[in-house]
Amino acid sequence: MLKIIIQNLFQKEIISLAGVCKVIDLIHENHIDWMHACGKKGRCTTCKIIVLDGMDNLSPLTDREEYFKGIDRLTNHERLSCQAKLVKGEILIRVAEENKFSHMVYSE
Ligand code: FES
Repeated sequence: MLKIIIQNLFQKEIISLAGVCKVIDLIHENHIDWMHACGKKGRCTTCKIIVLDGMDNLSPLTDREEYFKGIDRLTNHERLSCQAKLVKGEILIRVAEENKFSHMVYSE
């Protein structure tokens, strides 16, 4: 079982019994609006997740993520949800301030 908990979306829990899956696909399959300006191609960083726990449960950094880390647009605690796959266990994540939608209500 794979699980994503989104802390600042009222601790929303997403549970998947399917296999390894990109984080953004699990989020979208559960009808949660999540920014993805470049169409999930690893070109924009608007889909980034702040990972509070479970970083080791994600797939290794992709070339696109290494690129954005190299130009300081991704920190050690952040991943691109269109690149990172949840491979086991669970992750606790947050939506970044700059990527929040005005039509959605977020918690602390
Ligand atoms: S949607 Fe643009 S980098 Fe992920």
